[in-house]
Amino acid sequence: MAVVRVTGRDGVERMLDAANGSQLMDTLRDANTGIDGTCGGMMSCGTCHVYVDPAWGDKLPPKSDDEQMMLDAIGELVEVRPNSRLSCQIQVSAALEGLELEIAPPV
Ligand code: FES
Repeated sequence: MAVVRVTGRDGVERMLDAANGSQLMDTLRDANTGIDGTCGGMMSCGTCHVYVDPAWGDKLPPKSDDEQMMLDAIGELVEVRPNSRLSCQIQVSAALEGLELEIAPPV
């Protein structure tokens, strides 16, 4: 398990417990943070978009080409930043303990 610090669209911070081996998207969706995860983690909706604290950028696996393509696609609708990630592509492990992120605007 990892405890992650999540800043919602309302600016309120919450600490959430994420289960090892799960997609981070699942935790964010189940906690009603505004993350929909409409496609169930298939990288085809972009509704799991988050901004990861830049300090964590090097500690996460790099974006795949497919993840970047989805981010490029939603970039026409919302602000996509260098620290943008699809939370369905972040697998939870103990190494994520203390991860900080912000929920991106809805697409
Ligand atoms: S849940 Fe659809 S792209 Fe992540």
